[in-house]
Amino acid sequence: MSNKLMKSPIPIADFDISYSEGDGPVYSMPPEVFVDKEFYEFEMNAVWAHEWFCVGHASDIPKSGDYYTIEVGEDPLIVIRDRTGSVNVLSNVCQHRGMILLEGRGNTRRISCPLHAWVYNINGELTSAPGLTDADEKVESFNIKDVCLPKIRTEVWQGFVFITFDEDLPPLSDRLGNLGDQLGNYKIDELRASVPLKMEAFDWNWKIFNDECYHCSYLHGGSWGEMYPLCLNSTDEMVKFNDIENGLVSYNLISQHIDAAPTNTGSILQPPIDTLTDEERKQLTYVTVAPNLLIVAMPDKVKYFMWLPKGATESWYGVSWMYPESTLALESYEKNFQQEHDDLWQVMEEDLFAWKGVQKGMQSKYATRGYLTSHELVIQRLQNWLIDKYRAEEKRAGSEEKPTQHYLESILAE
Ligand code: FES
Ligand SMILES: [Fe+2]
Repeated sequence: MSNKLMKSPIPIADFDISYSEGDGPVYSMPPEVFVDKEFYEFEMNAVWAHEWFCVGHASDIPKSGDYYTIEVGEDPLIVIRDRTGSVNVLSNVCQHRGMILLEGRGNTRRISCPLHAWVYNINGELTSAPGLTDADEKVESFNIKDVCLPKIRTEVWQGFVFITFDEDLPPLSDRLGNLGDQLGNYKIDELRASVPLKMEAFDWNWKIFNDECYHCSYLHGGSWGEMYPLCLNSTDEMVKFNDIENGLVSYNLISQHIDAAPTNTGSILQPPIDTLTDEERKQLTYVTVAPNLLIVAMPDKVKYFMWLPKGATESWYGVSWMYPESTLALESYEKNFQQEHDDLWQVMEEDLFAWKGVQKGMQSKYATRGYLTSHELVIQRLQNWLIDKYRAEEKRAGSEEKPTQHYLESILAE
């Protein structure tokens, strides 16, 4: 991330028609926000440098030394659990000459650079540097204690690991408010996935992943729609989880019967989470924690979808399904997991087809800004949150600008 302050290459006033003031329809965002390299740089500052965002779930690294690697834009990071049980997020860049330290996932007692073997402990502190710290070659001016891998500000909420590059941002709890209590019956921090989250690279902008269910009855009419019948009224967007200003954008899908789920039987294939109310067992709750986490709370599990920026037209994306330990211990677990996975495969293929198609369309000179319907409140709300970030960044960049010659002249003349 460059962190170089810049103004939006798209005139900031152009976003006004995409900003909902609650009075009538708004337009979708300019196509350039999905395509333009310079706007991507601006947005990396506006959104990703000044907000909390999710980088995975702590249950994927249960033991001391467990780690996985991710990338946020140009920044490779390591998410690692230390000896005290805390989850740390460190830069994955060697502080000698910039080599990437770790790849993939695993468990380690130390972080050793493959290039010249500088060694860091799992808290990121340098412990040895051949040629600088060896007894016979000690360099007096080099203090090993001065070198450590940059540590990114981290907070864990319900097991989700959040980071921010902004040291001055209020704590994550200020932003998430009582979402944890509202989802309390799902006991998310006690759930675990049988396979850790795997991020894959895709050729579209990260905002393409922004979720809505206007498309569910159409794109997924023959797949999801067959398994989990939907009418437009079964989507409730006025739910308690919404806190638009704080980037919590949500809706519920209400089903006709208890324990309904998009599977070939129309019901959950694993046991329900035993702390849910009957109301919770009749619905699927979708909560987007902007910019990059979608939590889907279901009667038998909590899924989450996470995405990260990779470039103007590239992103990382992964999905994880988390269950109570008692479900994971069942002999039937694996078979039912596989069955549900297979049942949803077509839905996933349809989404991939649409995401790819939208990105391709956005690159055309004929791409335009269509009206959002009243069934796309989710998108309207996410647009508002994003535009708030763009406007704030524009202001920051503006206040840093050097006074113009004309302005200087007028001061000197006084
Ligand atoms: S770049 Fe890592 S030890 Fe030299
Ligand atoms: Fe979809």
